[in-house]
Amino acid sequence: MDKKCVVSGMRPTGPLHLGHLVGALQSWVSLQDRYNNYFLIASLHALTTEYADSSKIRPFTREILMDWLSVGIDPEKSVIFDHAHVPGHYQLHLLLSMTTPLGWLERVPTYKEQIVQLKSKEIDSYGFLGYPLLQAVDVILYKASFVPVGEDQVSHIELCREVARRFNGFYGEIFPEPQALLTKTPRLPGLDGRKMSKSYGNAIYLKDDFADVRQKILPMVTDTRRKRKSDPGVPEDCPAFDYHKAFSTQEEMDKIRQGCTTASMGCLECKKMLLNNLETLLVPIKERRARWENDPAALEEILQEGNRRAAKTAEATMNEVFDAMKFR
Ligand code: TRP
Repeated sequence: MDKKCVVSGMRPTGPLHLGHLVGALQSWVSLQDRYNNYFLIASLHALTTEYADSSKIRPFTREILMDWLSVGIDPEKSVIFDHAHVPGHYQLHLLLSMTTPLGWLERVPTYKEQIVQLKSKEIDSYGFLGYPLLQAVDVILYKASFVPVGEDQVSHIELCREVARRFNGFYGEIFPEPQALLTKTPRLPGLDGRKMSKSYGNAIYLKDDFADVRQKILPMVTDTRRKRKSDPGVPEDCPAFDYHKAFSTQEEMDKIRQGCTTASMGCLECKKMLLNNLETLLVPIKERRARWENDPAALEEILQEGNRRAAKTAEATMNEVFDAMKFR
């Protein structure tokens, strides 16, 4: 009877793009009927890098919430919340900070990379080192069995399992060890072939008007060997073909592969097929989004209700934790 629990989250650092849709959101939507889902907006994680100016976190939280709802994350089926408004996250994070060895956090590969990459941001803080621990709390506070994430998050889920195991070893079996659910879709590149990212200016946003999507797709990078239509191309080397893999049928892809490698189909025709499919997908998303843009009170109510539901589960877990630690 009892459904297993799924937890996942995103940091509110900007509007969501097509990469988020194929890399995460489509899988979240499909998990909704089978599991108890908790989808959280990780505003405390945003704070690890944005602490000097936290004023954008709240507006981005609203953006993400609208993006989620417009793609079909359903507040009737899933608990949608902002973890900054659930006290259990602060409580459990502090308790686990006592049991987690420093070396475990220092070894996490994302930490080592970011410390080098984000030099300008002054992230040599206690909180930033604790980022994966804060994420572990997000997951185990709800006793999740599964965490749908991208490849880049696997080390965080591994840490989460170790943290849970160590706590259980000291105080008794409270937390299940969660498993990562990796999305099978290949990564969607940005319009220039690099990783799709806000900072590269190469993203298509879920909230873009379709006219803008068209303006972005038409000039996008293709296989550089195809200078003219008469030059044959290699679909595997073409970012536009990666989009077809995400948004087109097998039949369409076969047709394009044939047309591209024999130089009988031009890049424009190929992109028009892609645009057709994107239109079918994105226009309804955009329409659903408009509804929430016009009703901020309803949006706020969804978040408040989600926060309440999350807090209830979290409080029950914290009661068990306090008992197990003989704190009462
Ligand atoms: N660290 C994740 C990311 O950058 C976001 C996140 C926060 C998360 N809390 C989570 C993901 C809990 C899964 C579960 O993508």
